Amino acid sequence: MTFDRTGIIGESPLMQEIFTLLALAAPTDATVLLLGETGTGKELIGQAIHRNSRRREGPFVVVNCAAIPENLLESDLFGHERGAFTGAVNRKIGRFALAHGGTIFLDEIGELPIPIQAKILRVLQFKEFEPLGTHKTQKVDVRIIAATNRFLTDEVREGRFREDLFYRLNVVTLTLPPLRKRLEDIPILAYYFLENFARKNKRQIKEIEPPALHLLKSYHWPGNIRELENIMERAVIFVPARR
Ligand SMILES: Nc1ncnc2c1ncn2[C@@H]1O[C@H](COP(=O)(O)OP(=O)(O)OP(=O)(O)O)[C@@H](O)[C@H]1O
Ligand SMILES: [Mg+2]
Repeated sequence: MTFDRTGIIGESPLMQEIFTLLALAAPTDATVLLLGETGTGKELIGQAIHRNSRRREGPFVVVNCAAIPENLLESDLFGHERGAFTGAVNRKIGRFALAHGGTIFLDEIGELPIPIQAKILRVLQFKEFEPLGTHKTQKVDVRIIAATNRFLTDEVREGRFREDLFYRLNVVTLTLPPLRKRLEDIPILAYYFLENFARKNKRQIKEIEPPALHLLKSYHWPGNIRELENIMERAVIFVPARR
């Protein structure tokens, strides 16, 4: 199995393991649950799964479940009929319908309000939903990839996340390792971001000096790869030009 890992840097054993699992899981239609701390690459991997699936020509639709207020989330996901509620002046196509033939990425799924969890469960079980204000069942062909940095088992135990939905999502579950557990990857990531930002900012910076690399490797990276990316951008901007 080959897996196109363009833009995903990582040679550590933990990442090799992820790539092996991705090569097997990506081409299938299986639901994927991506776990991991903030900035570990959940969205990047989600896109790569879509790109490596037979749905690659179809849409990839991202929904951030935490960013949309609860009263709007339902119509955002499932759409609504004209006049379905006050303010619904026009008919709206929901994101599940927009993702037909492709993949939907449900980001921050741990934040999903309970009433909407039931509706997502129905899509997973029966591939169908009803737009708000209708009794017309709509069929949809969509693969679900979900991501969260919460511990979903804790959410289930505390009654904030439906157990049945958790088991439906927990088919192919990948936990992306935090950066501090794969220190070997820090130099290649740092050089990867250095090259990108040097090119973007038209700066001629080619080397990271050993003490700087040592510092990067001794930090604990709570923001993971996003934090490293930001630090490298800042470094490229602020490194004094040679005279
Ligand atoms: N292995 C990697 N190689 C190169 N870049 C990466 C890698 N992993 C993550 N990144 C980059 O780090 C940034 C954060 O990644 P991403 O948005 O996928 O993280 P996330 O897990 O979804 O974070 P959050 O939980 O905060 O949403 C992005 O700019 C992404 O391109
Ligand atoms: Mg994300």
